[in-house]
Amino acid sequence: MTTQELASSQENMSDTTPTTAPKADLDWPNLGFGLHKADFSIRHTWKDGSWDLGVLSPDENIPINIAATCLHYGQACFEGLKAFETKSGDVVVFRIEQNAKRMINSCEKILMEPVPEEMFIDSVFRVINANRRFVPPYGTGACLYIRPLVIGSAPQVGVKPAGEYVFLVLVTPVGPYFKTGFKPVDLIVVEDIDRAAPLGVGDAKVGGNYAAGMRATLRAKEQGFTEVLYLDAREKKFIDESGPANFFAITKDNQYITPASSSILASITNKSLMILARDMGLEAKRRPIGVDEIFDFAEAGCCGTAAVITPIGSITYRDRKVTYCPDGKSGPISAKLYDRLRAIQVGDEPDVHDWVRVVPE
Ligand code: PLP
Ligand code: COI
Repeated sequence: MTTQELASSQENMSDTTPTTAPKADLDWPNLGFGLHKADFSIRHTWKDGSWDLGVLSPDENIPINIAATCLHYGQACFEGLKAFETKSGDVVVFRIEQNAKRMINSCEKILMEPVPEEMFIDSVFRVINANRRFVPPYGTGACLYIRPLVIGSAPQVGVKPAGEYVFLVLVTPVGPYFKTGFKPVDLIVVEDIDRAAPLGVGDAKVGGNYAAGMRATLRAKEQGFTEVLYLDAREKKFIDESGPANFFAITKDNQYITPASSSILASITNKSLMILARDMGLEAKRRPIGVDEIFDFAEAGCCGTAAVITPIGSITYRDRKVTYCPDGKSGPISAKLYDRLRAIQVGDEPDVHDWVRVVPE
């Protein structure tokens, strides 16, 4: 798609809800992390060597060939980012170009046609504009969750790339990923199920990684835990990440540490927190973190777009349990990081790192 075509695609919005429509009638402060039907999604097709201009559609279904590679061979990857309303009424997104770049990496890893960065950003903006009434009002704590997806859409019965792809973006207003919000969660270390292998696709946001983790998460929930903590698949000695989020810890000498591993997703939230931690005067390090170190941390947390920062209240490892938040509240450094991140994301604090983009109407 050329820049000129992109511009004309932005003009072609007459069939959508006006961006000034009154807000949807939702219980904004009490939204969970669920799917609420919005007005429009956008879909593009890659065929015969190029992406089309994309169409906004109110239809929540897509026609798909029963032998499409996404259905049989898992040729599918996605992204997750959030849009917020600011105090002045703008709608802003956080580090969108990082999501665009990561989706290119995910597509390349499973041999799908990558979505160019400019097209990714333009499509996300078009979908947000078509669904402005679902952007939660400033101050409610909710936001618009944006879910871009690429799938192999052409039929193949042999195991090979589809050769035709659909890029779509759907949105839904959401509250916190973990029901408890910014309250501590309880994790269990899982040793008999791996989410990803060191040379596999754990660092790509491909659908199969999440299917691979469902068994472990379900079992953890049945045992009364909130989520799992995965270890490195080769040696089971080092912390990898949680099911839907990266892991970080604050050491007793005030370092922000987070695992170095080839099989975890490169979290944009985590990278941002490392920078914010340094701004606060902490040392921030990415390094292999031995699972035995959990008994020495001052604080620990999960971080991600959906999870934001979710403090970890306890980790159970074999027959031992370590607790970090004896009074049921987050530790002070995690709380400070959370406040700074949220304040930047919703435009309450100056965007000194140039992370926030206003969505042009
Ligand atoms: N790890 C996994 C497995 C995830 O699904 C996510 C969510 O995107 C993250 C980490 C956090 O990444 P980000 O902060 O970019 O959302
Ligand atoms: C996100 O944080 O955006 C994710 O994609 C995690 C997902 C499992 C909800």
